[in-house]
This record gives sequence, C-alpha cells and structure tokens, in this order.
Amino acid sequence: MTRRPGSQPGLSKSVPKPGHKNDKKTLRILCLSGPNLQLLGVREPEIYGHETLALVHEKIVARGKELGVDVDCRQSNHEGVLLDWIGESRTTFDGILLNGAALTHTSLALFDALKAVAVPCVEVHLSNPEAREAYRRESKIAAACIGKVSGFGPQSYLLGLEGLVHALRKRP
Ligand code: DQA
Repeated sequence: MTRRPGSQPGLSKSVPKPGHKNDKKTLRILCLSGPNLQLLGVREPEIYGHETLALVHEKIVARGKELGVDVDCRQSNHEGVLLDWIGESRTTFDGILLNGAALTHTSLALFDALKAVAVPCVEVHLSNPEAREAYRRESKIAAACIGKVSGFGPQSYLLGLEGLVHALRKRP
C-alpha cells in the first residue's frame, strides 16, 4: 500500500466517517398509525376525511422521496405491535412519525417506549384533539416527542414529516 506523507491508514478523504456531518446517509423514517386508522375513508369522514390510509401512505412516501428520505408506513390496532416496532426502531430508523390514535390519550407504554429508544418522534393527528371531547385533550406521548402537528387532515402527516426531517438534518 502506498501512503501519502502524513496520511493515516484507514482514513480516506472521500469516505466520511458514520455520523460525520458530511455523511450523506439517507434518513429512514418510521411512520406509525394506531387503532382504527385502517378505516380511514369510511370512519367518521366528517372528522377524518374521505382519503383511505393507503392513499395517505402513498402521499407520505412520495413527499419523503421529494425530501430525500425513506419512509416506511405501518398501521396496527394492537398496542403491543406498535411497542415492538418502536423498540426495533432504535437501530433501524432515524425518526418516527406517530399517530397513536386513541392510544395517544391512554398509553403510558407508548410514552415509555419512545423515551426508551430516544428516536426523535413527531406526534401527528388528522383532527385537532384539543378542540374535541375533554378526554382527547390529554396526550400521554407529547412529552416524549420533539413536536406535534394536528388538525390538518392527512396534511398533518406531511407537515409532521417535513418538521421531523428538518430537525434531523440540523442535528450536530
Ligand atoms: C386521532 C385523534 C384521536 O383522538 C382518535 O382517537 C383517533 C384519531 C386523529 O388522527 O385525529 O383515532 O389520532
């Protein structure tokens, strides 16, 4: 092996070390939707709109492409499945976009999972829970999130994604 004077073995100018600010690794975002959101489009359309979750997922993935990030969209009605996905995200995702649906208002376990993995998370809601019934005004997960977008229908996911990507990119 030939070496330039002063250069160190294993260090190349063109290959940034992982985590270096010039590291151009594509960000991976996990988008999770909780209970009953598989019924989007037919579920109380006056509150949640007419778009299906499949269409909303398509829009999120497309916006992700424009932003240069990979988004993996999933939905589950089961708290334990959501907890497993959050737990696994620690090593495979850079950020989480989470619509916990009704679990938002009840699940200390979701809060604990987000705190445990410490993957930056943005809370999203189609409706504005704070302008609805009193029992929707409390979010158990908000304190484990870096931000929240609610009240804009499916657009809440897209705005949340933009905010999350912006926050991840400006990390030191
Ligand atoms: C929701 C708001 C929650 O209060 C509700 O339980 C949902 C959907 C929303 O996206 O507006 O299931 O998270």
